[in-house]
Amino acid sequence: MASADRLAEVADADAPIIEMRGIKKSFGQVVALDGVDLTLEEGEVLALVGDNGSGKSTLIKTLVGVHQPDAGTISIRGEERTITSPKVAREYGISTVYQDLALVDTLSVAANMFLGRTPTKRVGIVRQVDWAQMNERAEEILRTRLNIEVDTTKEVEFLSGGERQAIAIGRALVTDPDIVIMDEPMSALSTDSKSKVRELVRSLNDEGITVLLISHSLDEVFSLTDRVTVLDNGRLVGTVETDRVSKDDIVQMIVAGEMPAGADG
Ligand SMILES: Nc1ncnc2c1ncn2[C@@H]1O[C@H](COP(=O)(O)OP(=O)(O)O)[C@@H](O)[C@H]1O
Ligand SMILES: [Mg+2]
Repeated sequence: MASADRLAEVADADAPIIEMRGIKKSFGQVVALDGVDLTLEEGEVLALVGDNGSGKSTLIKTLVGVHQPDAGTISIRGEERTITSPKVAREYGISTVYQDLALVDTLSVAANMFLGRTPTKRVGIVRQVDWAQMNERAEEILRTRLNIEVDTTKEVEFLSGGERQAIAIGRALVTDPDIVIMDEPMSALSTDSKSKVRELVRSLNDEGITVLLISHSLDEVFSLTDRVTVLDNGRLVGTVETDRVSKDDIVQMIVAGEMPAGADG
């Protein structure tokens, strides 16, 4: 490796894993994001919170290439990047678990996890889906990384809410990401399932995966995250360290759109 390259690597080692700056996005007359900054530090769990319609989903869709920003920049480890699709985001190590989970009920657990990237094997002159490999890898991800035992040949319609959530997270792990983004992963779950998902978030983070968690629940935010970024009406209110603020502070940031007194953000 040339020494200039090595210096570049050292310089990048200090850069946040993700840095979004001045992101703007409108849909027709609706200004969804009006110059938002978001920084994700390697290894942290960051909460992204704000009222309905404040721009949370739009911000992460801009990060993962579902939308292109009208203005602003996105850097990954200090390098400015254009992310044109979720596939490109995955190539940069960013995986997403969507709010609606986007599972296909009539397909098996393994088929859902490998949707769109099924492993194949050559049989004579044709390539066929390698079901054995798919089931084996799906089972391994669920068992070793998420600590869940399910029959990966079973259709997902027969699974509980918490199991479905785990499958959606398992699917995000298939590409071996450095960053997992979750858009309100627990909003539709029972209390039992929620505590399971909390465990999943913790175990991902223990493995060194950086997590960006969009959440409605302050309990979740306070039990899981290192920092909180608050949006209000498409604008950044600020980012605070979770253990230096109270729930009331966060509520004030969400509702009044102001930093709490004394916070230096
Ligand atoms: N695809 C879209 N087309 C038109 N308007 C949209 C679209 N996506 C989001 N919006 C609008 O952008 C604003 C922010 O929405 P969203 O990012 O979904 O907020 P949140 O996730 O915080 O609830 C809302 O006013 C919403 O109606
Ligand atoms: Mg949303």
